[in-house]
Amino acid sequence: MNDKEIVLSGIRATGNLHLGNYYGALSKFVKMQDDYDCLYFIADLHALTTTPDPNILHENVKNILAEYLAAGVDPDKATIFVQSDVPEISEMYLLLNMHVGIGELMRTTSFKDKARKQLGIKNGSDDEDIEKQIIGTDSNKRVNAGLLTYPTLMAVDILIQKAHKVPVGKDQEQHLELTRRFARRFNSFYGVDLFPEPQNFNFGDHAVKVPGLDGSGKMGKSEGNCIYLIDEEKVLRKKVMRAVTDEGPKEPNQPISEPVQNLLTLMELTSAPEIVQQYRDAYADCSIRYGDLKKQLAEDILKVTTPIRERYNDIRNDDAFIGRVVRQGAERARERASKTLAEVREIMGIRKFY
Ligand code: ADP
Ligand code: TRP
Repeated sequence: MNDKEIVLSGIRATGNLHLGNYYGALSKFVKMQDDYDCLYFIADLHALTTTPDPNILHENVKNILAEYLAAGVDPDKATIFVQSDVPEISEMYLLLNMHVGIGELMRTTSFKDKARKQLGIKNGSDDEDIEKQIIGTDSNKRVNAGLLTYPTLMAVDILIQKAHKVPVGKDQEQHLELTRRFARRFNSFYGVDLFPEPQNFNFGDHAVKVPGLDGSGKMGKSEGNCIYLIDEEKVLRKKVMRAVTDEGPKEPNQPISEPVQNLLTLMELTSAPEIVQQYRDAYADCSIRYGDLKKQLAEDILKVTTPIRERYNDIRNDDAFIGRVVRQGAERARERASKTLAEVREIMGIRKFY
């Protein structure tokens, strides 16, 4: 196991997983576990940056654990753990922060988006306006420091395991770029060769972006346009049948509109290639019937989600099993984490007298 490349990825504990999470991250977790030394975790500390209700946070951690397992992440092949079970991460987060600039954190896209939300200001507002409000004196308007240092914590998740590959969707690439920068900076500041520079990982040549069913953009929790892996059959069919389309092609071979292209993109992920081609041809010769397309799409999505949903319900209720998985996972994750932390402390000059 030891000469295999190290893979690490995590998902924040902010709700149930949807098809975007599945095709962007979770399905890759499952495919990679045979060929790499994999560690997959639930980012509960990262979830705190958007201050969830404490009871909901714990339930969400459990939901996502059950979803990992139900989707086929195998605790005998991969290490599955909860971020807060590895206290070495929190300590190294403090240490790495000494090498991270406030400016570079403030320029991160995800920080600006979430800061806007916490301040209640509009999308169009410019960066200067956001900065003024952040350092302003209105104590009701505050952006929490955890949100600012989110990329440091994510970098530590990755660097403390000395991971080589990090399977994530397109939206996480900026965070990965920062992680590489922090790794290079630490190595060169102390003249060491401690951290490898981690890369994103995709099967095929580009990062996946799963669209929503509302005609534009991506599927996402905050967009409210999700098909969840655990949606009941009836609910799922209803969501697909309600998906936005267009008025139908008016002339042969006209360009495919965005909402219809989105449905075809989902179909490419879930259906057989000849079925997708059949609907593309039907659009081109104007014989397409959206009702049929949606029925087919719902059917094919259900083929992917039904076994996951069925296993989920059993696993979610098996506290003993979940407990065993995460206890074993924490032990394994802490092994390498504590070694790296000891190295970092030594390198930074934090040594004991006794
Ligand atoms: P959300 O955007 O719903 O809040 P997260 O930010 O928790 O989801 O994302 C968890 C993982 O799922 C990340 O690796 C992210 O890149 C991936 N992901 C989320 N939504 C999509 C999507 N629509 N297409 C592809 N990947 C996605
Ligand atoms: N930021 C990631 C997301 O929002 C979650 C995450 C936290 C992560 N730490 C990580 C992903 C380390 C990969 C590696 O989805």
